[in-house]
Amino acid sequence: MVIDFQKLAPRESYPWLINAINPRPIAWVSTISAAGKTNLAPFSFFQGICASPPTLMFTGANDRTGKMKDSVVNVEQVPEFVVNIVPYALREPMNLTSAPLPHGESEFEHFNIATAPSTLVKPPRVAASPVSFECKLDRIVRIGEGPLAGNVVFGTILCAHVDESVVTGGALDPRKLDTIGRMGGDYYTRTTELFTIKRPT
Ligand SMILES: Cc1cc2nc3c(=O)[nH]c(=O)nc-3n(C[C@H](O)[C@H](O)[C@H](O)COP(=O)(O)O)c2cc1C
Repeated sequence: MVIDFQKLAPRESYPWLINAINPRPIAWVSTISAAGKTNLAPFSFFQGICASPPTLMFTGANDRTGKMKDSVVNVEQVPEFVVNIVPYALREPMNLTSAPLPHGESEFEHFNIATAPSTLVKPPRVAASPVSFECKLDRIVRIGEGPLAGNVVFGTILCAHVDESVVTGGALDPRKLDTIGRMGGDYYTRTTELFTIKRPT
């Protein structure tokens, strides 16, 4: 079976992407508008990019009408954001914040999600997140245009807030972090079943 992406409408190609490219990590992104309104939303087109300079990215896709996500609009206005990591315990509030609230309405306030102040950037952190990366905008790369086109937001990591409860011997412990991954449709996966493989020398 061969799926010809050149003949697929954008909405038809999307399920093939998310059902095959998984599990995807989830960036729970806090931003702030020029008017000072906070915003919080999850993005699973998300990755670390490189360590020098320490860089990560997430993609805010335009919606079906071609409108940009509030997170991208905010980062254009105030070029800073925080990526909060999502453990299993925060799966429900994370999901709630994917609701399309009107621009300027804060998911933090609407869903009663506690904030903690950031150190180097204006957007607050999610207080209950075990790891939060404070980032300054590096660049936004536009892929395509119109409905479902991508706005790839690259950020330089300035600092990370790490809860001691997920650290063992000075390092982040994946057994304690309990992150979740996004699969296709409404499916998620949990990282409780870990295995190791030794790298070839
Ligand atoms: C787990 C999860 C992952 C998501 N990943 C993305 C993504 O990578 N890109 C995207 O544009 N929307 C993604 N969404 C949908 C956005 O969270 C949703 O459109 C949200 O309303 C955007 O908020 P904003 O307009 O306040 O930025 C995801 C939703 C969930 C629940």
